[in-house]
Amino acid sequence: MAPLRITVIGTGYLGATHAAAMAELGFEVLGLDVVPEKIEMLAAGRVPMYEPGLEELLAAHVAGLPGSTGRLRFTRSWEEVGEFGDVHFVCVNTPQKHGEYACDMSYVDSAVESLAPHLARPALVVGKSTVPVGSAERLAAKLAALAPAGADVELAWNPEFLREGFAVQDTLHPDRIVIGTRGERAEKVLREVYERPIAEGSPLVVTDFPTAELVKTAANSFLATKISFINAMAEVCEAAGGDVAKLAEAIGHDERIGSKFLRAGIGFGGGCLPKDIRAFMARAGELGADQALTFLREVDSINMRRRGHMVELAREAVGGAFLGKRVAVLGATFKPDSDDVRDSPALNVAGQIHLQGGQVTVYDPKGMDNARRVFPTLGYAESAVAAARGADVVLHLTEWREFRELDPVELGAVVSDRLLLDGRNALDAGQWRAAGWTYRAMGRPRA
Ligand code: UGA
Repeated sequence: MAPLRITVIGTGYLGATHAAAMAELGFEVLGLDVVPEKIEMLAAGRVPMYEPGLEELLAAHVAGLPGSTGRLRFTRSWEEVGEFGDVHFVCVNTPQKHGEYACDMSYVDSAVESLAPHLARPALVVGKSTVPVGSAERLAAKLAALAPAGADVELAWNPEFLREGFAVQDTLHPDRIVIGTRGERAEKVLREVYERPIAEGSPLVVTDFPTAELVKTAANSFLATKISFINAMAEVCEAAGGDVAKLAEAIGHDERIGSKFLRAGIGFGGGCLPKDIRAFMARAGELGADQALTFLREVDSINMRRRGHMVELAREAVGGAFLGKRVAVLGATFKPDSDDVRDSPALNVAGQIHLQGGQVTVYDPKGMDNARRVFPTLGYAESAVAAARGADVVLHLTEWREFRELDPVELGAVVSDRLLLDGRNALDAGQWRAAGWTYRAMGRPRA
């Protein structure tokens, strides 16, 4: 039997990584995007975002690059994709709708509508995007109506759990593979696609459409809840004089709780967790199950409070008002090892302080270009030391390794006041205090 030919529709974070990973697994892959610049960059082996390991994978497989396997190509042609593929992965994004909680499905719908008329032979369409439950059923009906091959075109739902910054690793070695299907053929094909990770031990969960869709939103909701839980504990710790870092360490020793995702700080952001919990609430409302998810409203509001609280701590630290004060902000991305500033708590805090009259200077190892684009009126510096020069307070808002490795003595020599607020509970308090800094962290006692 000839090896499966795979197409990947949408080459953002998810799609670019998935396409490269499929080539790495040995398949012939054709990636499609409607944005010409993305296709041109990828075809030249360049990655449109910062993602460790992805460029190396492209170099190994993109056709035309010296020494590559040539298994990975890119196109803008739906016709070519339809002709080429046995399996079509839909990897387009599903952002939050403007001014609403609900998810914007227009990219998924338009991908399926553009692809379907070119499906003239048996094929499997696989949804990977995060969608409201019920979408797969709706899209299956759309495919059946629009694809010339009719019932020979099947749909499966196969949610993606990759984390930015670990996208390659998570795609090649997923901690589980979830397949929602209505038929055995789809399962058989996807078992073939994921043969290697399954053989290497990734558990496989086969289920129906709605469960597969829900697994993804449930997983992200659980993660968001865990972070907001520890941040709620941080609020109580601050009021009671406790130490949330010790509390997290202690409860994390209970295997039923686990130590991961218990870092208190300025909260979660990014293109997934915040919009996914909101879309989940909106969808539950449509289904008449909104009561089941009212706790997510609280999860969201605890999370948003963290940003305001960081601004308050900073205001207090500089004497009650930001006007005329210099504030150094270390970190702009929503988390380290990413250049993504979407719904970034760090950039939000920097922006709020700027709007309240503070003179803000931001430095981030990888997120400067995106941050400048989103918030051009903030000040930017080319290094942590340059950002801190003359600062009345330094805010640590994204826990990049580079910041953990900063020399407090060197930084102490350039600031106006040795005052550090750690919004990620990630720096070594003892080391900073020993260098003469006042170190404060969220949810922990002041020394
Ligand atoms: C998240 C999920 O972790 C992935 O499994 C999922 O596939 C992805 O969303 C998605 O839906 O596509 P990601 O958005 O890359 O991945 O980021 P996370 O590593 O989950 O971090 C989210 C936010 O939580 C970051 O802002 C991070 O700083 C914050 N966080 C994380 C905390 O504040 N405390 C913690 O203990 C952990």
